[in-house]
This record gives sequence, structure tokens and C-alpha cells, in this order.
Amino acid sequence: MKAFIAANWKMNKTVAETREFMKTFVPLVKDASDVDIVIAPPFTALAAAAEEMKGSAVQLSSQDVFWEEKGAFTGEVAPGMLLDAGCRHVIIGHSERRQYFHEDDAVVNKKVKSARKAGLGVIFCCGESLDERESGKTFDVIRREVEMGLVGVEPEQLVVAYEPIWAIGTGKTATPDQAQEVHAFIAGVLTKVYGNKSGIIRIIYGGSVTPDNVDILMGCKDISGALVGGASLKPDSFSRIVHFKKEK
Ligand code: 13P
Repeated sequence: MKAFIAANWKMNKTVAETREFMKTFVPLVKDASDVDIVIAPPFTALAAAAEEMKGSAVQLSSQDVFWEEKGAFTGEVAPGMLLDAGCRHVIIGHSERRQYFHEDDAVVNKKVKSARKAGLGVIFCCGESLDERESGKTFDVIRREVEMGLVGVEPEQLVVAYEPIWAIGTGKTATPDQAQEVHAFIAGVLTKVYGNKSGIIRIIYGGSVTPDNVDILMGCKDISGALVGGASLKPDSFSRIVHFKKEK
């Protein structure tokens, strides 16, 4: 399965900083052909990023989307507008959106359906908090998020990102065993929902991925890629992650 390595820049980088990153980064990954390389800048930098990656294999993603096509929804951005800005993907259900903007499974599901209907690929995020993990609820939380978030959604152009909340931005990466265990569980849930077709869905890991731990994480059986925050902000570091070498 082709690996899927995505950068989630979150609320970082101006237009000028985006252009500067791309000018260095795009040549660094010219040779990386067996991996989908995706970058999700903030809305304000999408157009500039699209321009800078033109002619390269790097693909553009948004970090969020609204579910309506147009109208009186101040501050929101529609799926068609993202396509128009050059996006091929959108991140939906990130824990920061669930936590700070109170997005629940129903909202996440509406966004996923609307994005897919418009033809955007979806990077669907799920993950448990530290409390949930410590009280033995990890699998219940993941099953609920995946089943409810993906109700009525076809498996094509779908990537599922497992991001344990306690590993995001903390430098506390899940161990390869911890990550693999949940990835295998997600694969099982997806098989229940989609049958054989679930094989086309890549399950990627996010949470303090760095050039130092990417090789071992990518060596895990059910990990098909990475969703990278902090370590995706520097061209060298993100390029090294794109050039991972599977370690067993
Ligand atoms: P960090 O890589 O900074 O931990 O962020 C992970 C993340 O939330 C990617 O979506």
C-alpha cells in the first residue's frame, strides 16, 4: 500500500513563510515517488501553497471544512471553495476541533459526507484522551468515533488517522506496540463496516512523529503513514519523515 505522509501545520505560517517553506521543500521530495505527500496549511496560505507546489507531486489539504455548499454561514468555508483553492484533501475530526470547537461525531459525519460528495479526499481523525486510555476506554472511544463519524461514507478516498490526544504536541509518542495495537483494532472496525473494501483505507498515525521515530512507526504492520504537526514545520525535518525507512 502506498504510504500517506501528511503535514498538519495547524495555526502556523504566514503566506511568506509558506512560500519560503515550499521553495525549499518541493525540491527535497522530488525523488519520493512511492508516497503520497500532503500539506495542510491554514486557509489563508492555501492559494500560495497551491501555486508553489504546482508541477510537483505534493498535494494540498485543508485543515477543516463546513458541510453546506454556500450561503449565510459567516466565517465558514465550503468543500467547493477548497477544491477551487487547489485542495485534494481535507482533515476532519481533529481532536483540537473536537475539543476547542465542540465538534461531536454528528458534526464530524456531516463534514465527511459533504467533503466526499464534493470529491475531496478525507483524512478522518480519531483518538482517545489520557483519561480514556487510563480507564480502559480506548477501544470503545475509537470504535464510536469511527463508526459514527463514517456513517453513510464510502471507503474510497478515505484515510483514517489515529491520533492519541495524549501524544499530540507533547513529545510523548505512542510506542510502536501501542500504536500498532490500536491500528489493528481500527482495521478490524473498518472491515466490519466495509468488508473486503476496507483494504483500500490507509490508517496513519499522528502524535509527536519526528525524524527519529518515523522509521520504527512505519515498520508496524498496520501503520500506512503519518500525520505530522510540529515536525512538519521545517522542510528538512518533514522531508526526512517523507523519506522514512521501515524499521522492524
Ligand atoms: P504533533 O506532531 O505536533 O504532535 O501533532 C500531531 C497532530 O495533531 C497532527 O494532526
